Amino acid sequence: MAATSQLRTAFARRLEGKVALITGGASGVGEVTAKLFSQHGAKVAIADVQDELGHSVVEAIGPSNSTYIHCDVTNEDGVKNAVDNTVSTYGKLDIMFNNAGISDPYKPRVIDNEKADFERVLSVNVTGVFLFMKHAARIMVPARSGCIISTASLSSTMGGGSSHAYCGSKHAVLGLTRNLAVELGQFGIRVNCLSPFGLPTPLAKKFTGIENDEDLANGIERAGNLKGTKLRIEDVANAALFLASDEAQYVSGQNLFIDGGFSVCNSAIKLFQYPDS
Ligand SMILES: NC(=O)c1ccc[n+]([C@@H]2O[C@H](COP(=O)([O-])OP(=O)(O)OC[C@H]3O[C@@H](n4cnc5c(N)ncnc54)[C@H](O)[C@@H]3O)[C@@H](O)[C@H]2O)c1
Repeated sequence: MAATSQLRTAFARRLEGKVALITGGASGVGEVTAKLFSQHGAKVAIADVQDELGHSVVEAIGPSNSTYIHCDVTNEDGVKNAVDNTVSTYGKLDIMFNNAGISDPYKPRVIDNEKADFERVLSVNVTGVFLFMKHAARIMVPARSGCIISTASLSSTMGGGSSHAYCGSKHAVLGLTRNLAVELGQFGIRVNCLSPFGLPTPLAKKFTGIENDEDLANGIERAGNLKGTKLRIEDVANAALFLASDEAQYVSGQNLFIDGGFSVCNSAIKLFQYPDS
């Protein structure tokens, strides 16, 4: 009985003693993941550009277990500072969660897309991820341990669901993940990414132009493959928790979809086989 309860306690605190740095932790997926990681015993540093929101997440978690660092992920000095600050505050870095991301307004015709918009999205979604991978590796390689997770998207493998810039950027996040998993495996460092279906966050509002939370959530639910349930931000945070925890100790180089099977469903075949669905 005592052993069972010990096991339950251990399972309940799946990141006990670990230190995590989360980009984009002031809002959406990053915010919910920061809170979940902390509930599981991790010390959490949040890097973002939305200072007020970032500080309020730290207040909610508790300042003894978390800290906020202003950091634009596209600025290498800022990235270096965020990583070094985390290590000097908490003594190490076990989990790097590259989650900050932006979208541009959806303009389906490539001829309507501006170079500046394209480069802005790539700069945050790709260069930002690359820089944090680089500076996290600087700490993790000598420690010979660590775990790097990045938030990709369905657009990491599928075309047509987002802007050209966003789709290109998320394909690149998957490419970086695979390349780094190969390089860092020899040091015992795991590298994975997450690919969620649509979530009602500020990013999705900007992309879809739908401001109302309920309308956005209902629209996403209608488009989804898995019926009778909605994708919650908590589901993505739980997937990040799994990848960050020792339960995933042999999982590396993977793209974990949290999409209710959307990425494996061919809608044309589905309509033909299940015309009433
Ligand atoms: N919302 C969706 O439908 C969806 C689906 C799949 C993947 N994603 C991905 O999830 C991740 C999180 O997005 P979200 O949906 O939680 O959106 P969000 O807008 O709620 O959060 C994104 C966070 O990134 C921060 N950020 C943006 N630019 C930054 C920069 N230059 N430096 C530092 N921080 C910056 C923002 O301030 C914000 O706090 C993104 O990578 C996004 O591409 C989102």
